[in-house]
Amino acid sequence: MAKQVIVITGTPGVGKTSVSRMLASKLDADIIEVGELVEREKLFTGFDEDRDTFIADTDRLSKRIGSLIENSSRRDILVVGHFAVDLLPPDKIHKVFVLRRYPEELRAVLERRGYKGRKLWENLVAEALDVCLCESVGLCGEGKVCEVDVTGRDFEEVVEEMISILEGRGDCRVGVTDWLGRLEAEGKLDEYIKHF
Ligand SMILES: Nc1ncnc2c1ncn2[C@@H]1O[C@H](COP(=O)(O)OP(=O)(O)OP(=O)(O)O)[C@@H](O)[C@H]1O
Ligand SMILES: [Mg+2]
Repeated sequence: MAKQVIVITGTPGVGKTSVSRMLASKLDADIIEVGELVEREKLFTGFDEDRDTFIADTDRLSKRIGSLIENSSRRDILVVGHFAVDLLPPDKIHKVFVLRRYPEELRAVLERRGYKGRKLWENLVAEALDVCLCESVGLCGEGKVCEVDVTGRDFEEVVEEMISILEGRGDCRVGVTDWLGRLEAEGKLDEYIKHF
């Protein structure tokens, strides 16, 4: 049985954890939550006080993820995290789903979590500038990278779209969002540019 490694990435707050749990239960897949693994197995080199987050030890982390994949008995393995693509050899990745959420909607999610100031704006700007998408395409090439817009959508429907792509019925595409264009049309771009 050939294993399929499916990466689910995107800016913090887009919905990776929620969507991957739903997808995993439909596919009967294993989930590797990168951030959780870093903390649980202390796979970090230090703590970034400014960003309030652990600095992952990417060498040890990549090796650990490789062995978890190897030892999994499931066909599908979801690797979930905003820098998950960096941790796997591109040829081992079947598909990369980059979840996208319009920055103003993301802002509401992150503010509800209590993010503010630099931590809030770093994430909003990263989403507005397609950082995760560009990194994924840069590392894996366009063919495997599928952009999925979750803005205003029920995650059930998002998961159905992902399944249709995995089954070869749906289109795996990039370039489906234009956050800068939409922010400009809504008169919100200037506020974002201040934080670029
Ligand atoms: N079924 C759903 N339909 C629509 N929105 C949802 C649903 N479930 C959760 N959400 C929204 O998505 C938000 C973010 O979800 P989630 O924690 O999965 O994001 P994440 O990408 O894993 O974030 P992080 O990178 O910080 O782990 C939730 O706070 C909630 O507002
Ligand atoms: Mg999460």
